[in-house]
Amino acid sequence: MPETASVSHVESARDTALAELAAAGTAEQTEAWRIAWLGRRGQLTQVLRGIRDLSPDERRSVGAAANQVKNILEQSLAQHQHAIASSKSEAEDRADAIDVTLPGWPAPIGGLHPTTQMLREICDAFGSMGFDVVEGPEVEWDRYNFEMLNIPRGHAARDMWATLWVDEPDEDGDYPMLMRTQTSPMQIRTMQERKPPIRVIVPGKCYRYEATDATHEWHFYQVEGLAVDRGITFADLKGTLYEFARRIFGEERQVRFRCDYFPFVEPGVDMSISNFKDPETGKRPINRDEDWIEILGAGMVHPKVLEGVGLDPQIYTGFAFGMGPERIAMLKYGIEDIRLFYSNDLRFLSQF
Ligand code: DAH
Repeated sequence: MPETASVSHVESARDTALAELAAAGTAEQTEAWRIAWLGRRGQLTQVLRGIRDLSPDERRSVGAAANQVKNILEQSLAQHQHAIASSKSEAEDRADAIDVTLPGWPAPIGGLHPTTQMLREICDAFGSMGFDVVEGPEVEWDRYNFEMLNIPRGHAARDMWATLWVDEPDEDGDYPMLMRTQTSPMQIRTMQERKPPIRVIVPGKCYRYEATDATHEWHFYQVEGLAVDRGITFADLKGTLYEFARRIFGEERQVRFRCDYFPFVEPGVDMSISNFKDPETGKRPINRDEDWIEILGAGMVHPKVLEGVGLDPQIYTGFAFGMGPERIAMLKYGIEDIRLFYSNDLRFLSQF
Protein backbone atom coordinates (compact mmCIF):
# COMPACT_ATOMS: atom_id res chain seq x y z
CA MET A 1 0.00 0.00 0.00
CA PRO A 2 1.55 3.31 -1.05
CA GLU A 3 1.84 6.21 1.38
CA THR A 4 -0.71 8.35 -0.39
CA ALA A 5 -3.88 6.65 -1.45
CA SER A 6 -6.37 6.86 -4.21
CA VAL A 7 -9.78 5.28 -4.54
CA SER A 8 -8.43 2.63 -6.87
CA HIS A 9 -5.69 1.78 -4.39
CA VAL A 10 -8.22 1.37 -1.68
CA GLU A 11 -10.30 -0.90 -3.86
CA SER A 12 -7.43 -3.10 -4.90
CA ALA A 13 -6.37 -3.27 -1.26
CA ARG A 14 -9.87 -4.53 -0.46
CA ASP A 15 -9.58 -7.30 -3.08
CA THR A 16 -6.18 -8.39 -1.78
CA ALA A 17 -7.42 -8.36 1.79
CA LEU A 18 -10.51 -10.45 0.98
CA ALA A 19 -8.41 -12.96 -0.99
CA GLU A 20 -6.03 -13.35 1.95
CA LEU A 21 -8.90 -13.72 4.36
CA ALA A 22 -10.42 -16.48 2.25
CA ALA A 23 -7.09 -18.31 2.43
CA ALA A 24 -6.90 -18.11 6.26
CA GLY A 25 -7.92 -21.64 7.22
CA THR A 26 -7.52 -21.53 10.98
CA ALA A 27 -8.46 -19.25 13.85
CA GLU A 28 -4.78 -18.30 14.27
CA GLN A 29 -4.37 -17.35 10.62
CA THR A 30 -7.56 -15.32 10.77
CA GLU A 31 -6.30 -13.45 13.81
CA ALA A 32 -3.00 -12.72 12.03
CA TRP A 33 -4.99 -11.37 9.10
CA ARG A 34 -7.00 -9.13 11.42
CA ILE A 35 -3.84 -7.64 12.87
CA ALA A 36 -2.28 -7.20 9.39
CA TRP A 37 -5.31 -5.35 7.96
CA LEU A 38 -7.43 -3.93 10.71
CA GLY A 39 -4.98 -3.77 13.63
CA ARG A 40 -3.63 -0.47 14.95
CA ARG A 41 -0.75 -0.66 12.47
CA GLY A 42 -2.68 -2.59 9.90
CA GLN A 43 -2.61 -1.65 6.26
CA LEU A 44 -6.09 -0.23 6.08
CA THR A 45 -5.58 1.77 9.25
CA GLN A 46 -2.50 3.32 7.68
CA VAL A 47 -4.51 4.36 4.63
CA LEU A 48 -7.12 5.99 6.79
CA ARG A 49 -4.42 7.86 8.63
CA GLY A 50 -2.84 9.03 5.34
CA ILE A 51 -6.10 10.65 4.30
CA ARG A 52 -5.40 13.81 6.25
CA ASP A 53 -2.49 14.57 3.84
CA LEU A 54 -4.75 14.60 0.81
CA SER A 55 -6.46 17.54 -0.81
CA PRO A 56 -10.01 18.20 0.45
CA ASP A 57 -11.57 16.69 -2.68
CA GLU A 58 -9.49 13.55 -2.60
CA ARG A 59 -9.98 13.39 1.15
CA ARG A 60 -13.73 13.09 0.68
CA SER A 61 -13.71 10.42 -2.04
CA VAL A 62 -10.83 8.34 -0.68
CA GLY A 63 -12.12 8.70 2.86
CA ALA A 64 -15.57 7.43 1.87
CA ALA A 65 -14.11 4.51 -0.10
CA ALA A 66 -11.71 3.58 2.72
CA ASN A 67 -14.49 3.64 5.32
CA GLN A 68 -16.64 1.45 3.14
CA VAL A 69 -13.78 -1.02 2.70
CA LYS A 70 -13.21 -1.01 6.46
CA ASN A 71 -16.84 -1.98 7.00
CA ILE A 72 -16.63 -4.71 4.40
CA LEU A 73 -13.46 -6.14 5.92
CA GLU A 74 -14.90 -6.07 9.45
CA GLN A 75 -18.06 -7.85 8.34
CA SER A 76 -16.13 -10.41 6.33
CA LEU A 77 -13.88 -11.03 9.32
CA ALA A 78 -16.85 -11.68 11.59
CA GLN A 79 -18.35 -14.13 9.09
CA HIS A 80 -15.06 -15.87 8.57
CA GLN A 81 -14.45 -16.25 12.31
CA HIS A 82 -17.93 -17.71 12.73
CA ALA A 83 -17.40 -20.12 9.83
CA ILE A 84 -14.10 -21.33 11.25
CA ALA A 85 -15.50 -21.81 14.76
CA SER A 86 -18.42 -23.89 13.52
CA SER A 87 -16.55 -26.01 11.01
CA LYS A 88 -14.87 -29.09 12.34
CA SER A 89 -11.56 -30.46 11.34
CA GLU A 90 -11.53 -33.69 9.46
CA ALA A 91 -10.04 -35.45 12.45
CA GLU A 92 -12.87 -34.25 14.62
CA ASP A 93 -15.37 -35.44 12.04
CA ARG A 94 -13.82 -38.88 12.02
CA ALA A 95 -13.86 -39.08 15.81
CA ASP A 96 -17.57 -38.26 15.86
CA ALA A 97 -18.56 -40.72 13.19
CA ILE A 98 -20.60 -43.71 14.31
CA ASP A 99 -18.85 -47.02 13.94
CA VAL A 100 -21.72 -49.33 13.18
CA THR A 101 -19.52 -52.39 13.61
CA LEU A 102 -19.00 -51.78 17.35
CA PRO A 103 -21.15 -53.80 19.79
CA GLY A 104 -23.88 -51.72 21.50
CA TRP A 105 -24.02 -50.70 25.16
CA PRO A 106 -25.91 -53.28 27.14
CA ALA A 107 -29.20 -51.77 28.37
CA PRO A 108 -29.52 -52.48 32.11
CA ILE A 109 -32.61 -54.58 32.77
CA GLY A 110 -34.57 -53.90 35.94
CA GLY A 111 -35.52 -56.65 38.35
CA LEU A 112 -38.26 -57.34 40.83
CA HIS A 113 -37.74 -55.92 44.30
CA PRO A 114 -36.87 -58.60 46.87
CA THR A 115 -40.09 -57.81 48.77
CA THR A 116 -42.13 -58.26 45.58
CA GLN A 117 -40.42 -61.58 44.94
CA MET A 118 -41.07 -62.72 48.49
CA LEU A 119 -44.73 -61.62 48.33
CA ARG A 120 -45.18 -63.57 45.12
CA GLU A 121 -43.60 -66.65 46.64
CA ILE A 122 -45.84 -66.43 49.70
CA CYS A 123 -48.98 -65.79 47.62
CA ASP A 124 -48.09 -68.70 45.32
CA ALA A 125 -47.67 -71.04 48.29
CA PHE A 126 -51.12 -70.18 49.67
CA GLY A 127 -52.65 -69.85 46.22
CA SER A 128 -51.89 -73.49 45.56
CA MET A 129 -53.71 -74.31 48.81
CA GLY A 130 -56.87 -72.60 47.55
CA PHE A 131 -56.48 -69.06 48.90
CA ASP A 132 -57.54 -66.02 46.81
CA VAL A 133 -55.32 -62.95 46.77
CA VAL A 134 -57.19 -59.75 47.71
CA GLU A 135 -56.00 -56.25 48.48
CA GLY A 136 -57.33 -53.35 50.52
CA PRO A 137 -56.80 -49.67 51.36
CA GLU A 138 -53.69 -48.35 53.07
CA VAL A 139 -55.64 -45.47 54.61
CA GLU A 140 -58.09 -47.20 56.92
CA TRP A 141 -60.87 -46.43 59.37
CA ASP A 142 -60.23 -46.94 63.06
CA ARG A 143 -63.30 -49.24 62.92
CA TYR A 144 -61.56 -51.74 60.67
CA ASN A 145 -58.00 -51.41 61.88
CA PHE A 146 -58.98 -51.64 65.56
CA GLU A 147 -62.58 -51.60 66.76
CA MET A 148 -64.03 -54.48 64.78
CA LEU A 149 -60.87 -56.47 65.48
CA ASN A 150 -61.87 -56.45 69.15
CA ILE A 151 -59.58 -53.54 70.03
CA PRO A 152 -61.97 -50.84 71.27
CA ARG A 153 -60.98 -47.26 71.98
CA GLY A 154 -58.95 -46.95 75.14
CA HIS A 155 -58.04 -50.65 75.08
CA ALA A 156 -54.50 -51.20 76.32
CA ALA A 157 -53.77 -53.50 73.34
CA ARG A 158 -53.75 -50.45 71.05
CA ASP A 159 -50.28 -49.84 72.38
CA MET A 160 -49.14 -52.85 70.34
CA TRP A 161 -49.45 -50.67 67.24
CA ALA A 162 -47.83 -47.23 67.25
CA THR A 163 -50.23 -45.53 64.88
CA LEU A 164 -49.91 -42.78 62.28
CA TRP A 165 -53.26 -40.95 62.41
CA VAL A 166 -54.64 -39.02 59.48
CA ASP A 167 -55.32 -35.36 60.29
CA GLU A 168 -58.99 -35.43 59.22
CA PRO A 169 -61.59 -35.08 61.98
CA ASP A 170 -65.19 -36.34 61.62
CA GLU A 171 -68.24 -34.32 62.75
CA ASP A 172 -67.72 -35.37 66.38
CA GLY A 173 -64.14 -34.08 66.35
CA ASP A 174 -62.74 -37.61 66.45
CA TYR A 175 -59.89 -38.68 64.22
CA PRO A 176 -61.15 -41.99 62.83
CA MET A 177 -58.70 -42.34 59.93
CA LEU A 178 -55.22 -43.82 60.06
CA MET A 179 -52.52 -45.44 58.00
CA ARG A 180 -53.24 -49.12 58.54
CA THR A 181 -50.86 -50.58 61.09
CA GLN A 182 -51.56 -54.13 59.92
CA THR A 183 -53.35 -55.99 57.14
CA SER A 184 -55.78 -57.51 59.66
CA PRO A 185 -58.53 -54.93 58.85
CA MET A 186 -58.94 -56.84 55.59
CA GLN A 187 -60.29 -59.75 57.65
CA ILE A 188 -63.29 -57.56 58.47
CA ARG A 189 -63.73 -56.14 54.97
CA THR A 190 -63.52 -59.63 53.47
CA MET A 191 -66.05 -61.14 55.87
CA GLN A 192 -68.43 -58.24 55.13
CA GLU A 193 -68.12 -58.83 51.40
CA ARG A 194 -67.94 -62.58 51.05
CA LYS A 195 -69.93 -65.45 52.49
CA PRO A 196 -68.12 -68.52 53.87
CA PRO A 197 -66.31 -70.58 52.80
CA ILE A 198 -63.69 -67.84 52.82
CA ARG A 199 -60.04 -68.38 52.08
CA VAL A 200 -58.06 -65.23 51.32
CA ILE A 201 -54.53 -64.02 51.48
CA VAL A 202 -53.87 -60.25 51.66
CA PRO A 203 -50.47 -58.80 50.78
CA GLY A 204 -50.18 -55.10 51.53
CA LYS A 205 -48.26 -52.17 52.89
CA CYS A 206 -48.54 -51.11 56.53
CA TYR A 207 -47.33 -48.11 58.49
CA ARG A 208 -46.25 -47.49 62.06
CA TYR A 209 -45.17 -44.45 64.00
CA GLU A 210 -41.81 -45.92 64.87
CA ALA A 211 -38.13 -45.04 64.96
CA THR A 212 -36.26 -47.18 62.45
CA ASP A 213 -33.45 -49.56 63.31
CA ALA A 214 -32.08 -52.82 61.93
CA THR A 215 -35.32 -54.68 62.69
CA HIS A 216 -37.92 -51.88 62.49
CA GLU A 217 -39.16 -49.86 59.57
CA TRP A 218 -41.96 -47.28 59.71
CA HIS A 219 -43.42 -48.81 56.55
CA PHE A 220 -43.29 -52.45 55.58
CA TYR A 221 -45.44 -55.18 54.12
CA GLN A 222 -47.58 -57.78 55.77
CA VAL A 223 -49.37 -60.79 54.43
CA GLU A 224 -52.64 -61.59 56.15
CA GLY A 225 -54.45 -64.88 55.83
CA LEU A 226 -58.03 -65.75 56.71
CA ALA A 227 -60.05 -68.94 56.42
CA VAL A 228 -63.66 -69.09 57.65
CA ASP A 229 -66.13 -71.92 57.23
CA ARG A 230 -68.14 -74.43 59.17
CA GLY A 231 -65.99 -76.79 61.16
CA ILE A 232 -62.56 -75.16 60.80
CA THR A 233 -60.31 -76.16 63.68
CA PHE A 234 -56.89 -75.37 65.05
CA ALA A 235 -55.62 -78.48 63.22
CA ASP A 236 -56.45 -76.74 59.91
CA LEU A 237 -54.39 -73.74 61.01
CA LYS A 238 -51.44 -75.93 61.93
CA GLY A 239 -51.59 -78.00 58.78
CA THR A 240 -51.82 -74.97 56.50
CA LEU A 241 -48.98 -73.05 58.13
CA TYR A 242 -46.76 -76.12 58.40
CA GLU A 243 -47.16 -76.69 54.68
CA PHE A 244 -46.37 -73.04 54.05
CA ALA A 245 -43.19 -73.15 56.17
CA ARG A 246 -41.92 -76.21 54.30
CA ARG A 247 -42.54 -74.59 50.92
CA ILE A 248 -40.64 -71.45 51.80
CA PHE A 249 -37.89 -72.83 54.01
CA GLY A 250 -37.51 -76.44 52.83
CA GLU A 251 -39.07 -79.86 53.32
CA GLU A 252 -37.11 -80.78 56.43
CA ARG A 253 -38.34 -77.73 58.34
CA GLN A 254 -40.31 -78.23 61.56
CA VAL A 255 -42.67 -75.73 63.16
CA ARG A 256 -43.51 -74.87 66.75
CA PHE A 257 -46.58 -73.05 68.05
CA ARG A 258 -46.62 -71.11 71.30
CA CYS A 259 -49.32 -69.07 72.99
CA ASP A 260 -49.31 -65.40 72.10
CA TYR A 261 -51.83 -62.61 72.45
CA PHE A 262 -53.61 -60.81 69.63
CA PRO A 263 -57.00 -59.30 70.51
CA PHE A 264 -58.75 -60.63 67.38
CA VAL A 265 -57.91 -64.32 67.85
CA GLU A 266 -58.58 -66.83 70.60
CA PRO A 267 -56.46 -68.80 71.16
CA GLY A 268 -53.62 -66.72 69.70
CA VAL A 269 -50.24 -68.19 68.83
CA ASP A 270 -46.97 -67.43 67.22
CA MET A 271 -45.24 -69.89 64.93
CA SER A 272 -41.52 -70.54 64.79
CA ILE A 273 -39.52 -72.59 62.32
CA SER A 274 -36.77 -74.97 63.38
CA ASN A 275 -33.16 -73.89 63.01
CA PHE A 276 -31.25 -76.84 64.45
CA LYS A 277 -27.53 -77.39 64.13
CA ASP A 278 -26.54 -79.99 61.57
CA PRO A 279 -25.09 -82.83 63.71
CA GLU A 280 -22.15 -83.23 61.32
CA THR A 281 -21.17 -79.73 60.31
CA GLY A 282 -22.53 -77.92 63.38
CA LYS A 283 -24.04 -75.38 61.01
CA ARG A 284 -27.54 -73.99 61.24
CA PRO A 285 -29.76 -73.42 58.17
CA ILE A 286 -30.19 -69.77 59.21
CA ASN A 287 -27.11 -68.07 60.56
CA ARG A 288 -28.57 -67.20 63.95
CA ASP A 289 -27.78 -68.91 67.22
CA GLU A 290 -31.35 -70.01 67.97
CA ASP A 291 -33.08 -73.39 67.65
CA TRP A 292 -36.43 -71.80 66.84
CA ILE A 293 -37.09 -68.58 64.94
CA GLU A 294 -40.47 -66.88 65.09
CA ILE A 295 -41.97 -66.06 61.68
CA LEU A 296 -45.64 -65.22 62.17
CA GLY A 297 -48.64 -64.62 64.42
CA ALA A 298 -51.88 -66.57 64.09
CA GLY A 299 -54.96 -67.85 65.89
CA MET A 300 -58.60 -68.86 65.73
CA VAL A 301 -60.82 -65.92 64.76
CA HIS A 302 -62.28 -64.45 67.96
CA PRO A 303 -66.05 -65.08 68.39
CA LYS A 304 -66.58 -61.34 68.92
CA VAL A 305 -64.98 -60.61 65.55
CA LEU A 306 -67.29 -63.13 63.86
CA GLU A 307 -70.34 -61.67 65.61
CA GLY A 308 -69.30 -58.18 64.57
CA VAL A 309 -69.62 -59.10 60.88
CA GLY A 310 -72.84 -61.03 61.43
CA LEU A 311 -71.46 -64.57 61.43
CA ASP A 312 -72.73 -66.91 64.14
CA PRO A 313 -69.70 -68.29 66.02
CA GLN A 314 -71.77 -71.36 66.91
CA ILE A 315 -71.89 -72.22 63.22
CA TYR A 316 -68.73 -70.70 61.74
CA THR A 317 -65.15 -70.82 62.88
CA GLY A 318 -61.97 -69.70 61.25
CA PHE A 319 -58.28 -69.10 61.54
CA ALA A 320 -56.18 -66.07 60.71
CA PHE A 321 -52.49 -65.34 60.46
CA GLY A 322 -50.20 -62.47 59.69
CA MET A 323 -46.54 -62.25 58.74
CA GLY A 324 -43.89 -59.78 57.59
CA PRO A 325 -42.46 -60.72 54.19
CA GLU A 326 -39.33 -58.60 54.74
CA ARG A 327 -38.63 -60.55 57.90
CA ILE A 328 -39.09 -63.81 56.04
CA ALA A 329 -36.79 -62.63 53.25
CA MET A 330 -34.22 -61.56 55.86
CA LEU A 331 -34.21 -65.05 57.33
CA LYS A 332 -34.20 -66.78 53.98
CA TYR A 333 -31.39 -64.69 52.48
CA GLY A 334 -29.42 -63.76 55.60
CA ILE A 335 -30.18 -60.02 55.37
CA GLU A 336 -29.14 -58.27 58.57
CA ASP A 337 -30.87 -54.90 58.31
CA ILE A 338 -34.49 -54.28 57.27
CA ARG A 339 -33.64 -50.69 56.27
CA LEU A 340 -31.80 -52.07 53.23
CA PHE A 341 -35.12 -52.96 51.59
CA TYR A 342 -36.32 -49.39 51.09
CA SER A 343 -33.15 -47.33 50.85
CA ASN A 344 -32.93 -47.82 47.07
CA ASP A 345 -29.32 -48.98 47.01
CA LEU A 346 -28.83 -50.89 43.78
CA ARG A 347 -25.81 -52.72 45.22
CA PHE A 348 -28.27 -54.42 47.55
CA LEU A 349 -31.32 -54.66 45.28
CA SER A 350 -29.51 -56.09 42.27
CA GLN A 351 -28.45 -59.15 44.27
CA PHE A 352 -31.98 -60.53 44.07
N1 DAH B 1 -51.71 -58.11 62.67
C1 DAH B 1 -50.75 -58.66 63.61
C2 DAH B 1 -49.61 -57.67 63.79
O1 DAH B 1 -49.50 -56.76 63.08
C3 DAH B 1 -50.24 -59.98 63.12
C4 DAH B 1 -51.27 -61.04 63.26
C5 DAH B 1 -51.26 -61.84 64.36
C6 DAH B 1 -52.24 -61.25 62.30
C7 DAH B 1 -52.20 -62.84 64.53
C8 DAH B 1 -53.20 -62.24 62.45
C9 DAH B 1 -53.16 -63.03 63.58
O2 DAH B 1 -54.14 -62.46 61.57
O3 DAH B 1 -54.10 -64.03 63.72
O4 DAH B 1 -48.85 -57.82 64.71
